[in-house]
Amino acid sequence: MTAAAALRLNRLHPSPCEEVEAAAAYAYPEPDGRYLRVNMVSSVDGCAVLDGRVGALTGPADQRLLVLLRSLADVLLVGAATVRAEGYGPVRTRPELRELRAANGQLPAARLAVVSRTIDVDLGSRAFTDAVERPLVVTTELAGRDRVREARRVADVLVAGERTVDLGVATDRLLEAGMPRMLSEGGPHLLADLYASDLVDELCLAISPLVTCGEGSRITAGPVLPTLRPQRLQTVLERDEFLFLRYVRC
Ligand SMILES: NC(=O)c1ccc[n+]([C@@H]2O[C@H](COP(=O)([O-])OP(=O)(O)OC[C@H]3O[C@@H](n4cnc5c(N)ncnc54)[C@H](OP(=O)(O)O)[C@@H]3O)[C@@H](O)[C@H]2O)c1
Repeated sequence: MTAAAALRLNRLHPSPCEEVEAAAAYAYPEPDGRYLRVNMVSSVDGCAVLDGRVGALTGPADQRLLVLLRSLADVLLVGAATVRAEGYGPVRTRPELRELRAANGQLPAARLAVVSRTIDVDLGSRAFTDAVERPLVVTTELAGRDRVREARRVADVLVAGERTVDLGVATDRLLEAGMPRMLSEGGPHLLADLYASDLVDELCLAISPLVTCGEGSRITAGPVLPTLRPQRLQTVLERDEFLFLRYVRC
């Protein structure tokens, strides 16, 4: 093989070029309409759910990044099954980011927005009762008036669809309500729906240094998209063997 034909690759690790401040690296672009970022973790072999939870796949590094990303967002959009499985608590802001939020004109913490057709979530859980900022429930007409009334005691209710939430309408409404910096933590069904609606601007994918085998869900769970979504690799970062890949839409 001649030198001209040799395949040349960029080595990113080991010998990292520099350490970066995560808060600066993950700053949202200047608000110009909504910007939806998704944050997910996967094993090296593509597993995103193990025994019905994500816990075994995570570690301190990606957990710290998860909290940081929440601290940068206006709203945290999460599927009801994830809230049920993970027992979500109140969304908190890292203390060192409170000033930055204030300077950006953001509320002290991101608002949790749970997506559920029938508001099938525990409205008595700490995610609602101890919330720093009033949560939202994004639902459909299937929820019914009584359940909507119950939910309104602890959350704002956004009805955006008859039998399934129209995520385009829902995110437009969140934008109109002053929440352009959106973050979703999935789960896989919600993420597939967000991609199907072409709403994802950025995917933050943490690769956990584990191999699981088995048949755990990938980070998306839904039909193959009629139009594949090409991605541009924006950054590759690493901490404690976790790889943090960041892809943006082309
Ligand atoms: N690896 C990771 O990074 C990661 C991240 C998050 C979660 N997880 C794991 O993923 C699992 C849960 O994920 P999942 O895919 O089963 O569920 P999910 O995406 O968290 O939630 C699905 C539920 O959200 C609601 N929903 C989603 N899209 C909707 C739409 N367009 N309209 C109306 N409702 C909609 C529905 O709730 P209703 O059924 O109430 O109508 C649906 O059943 C958990 O085990 C969790 O631990 C992993």
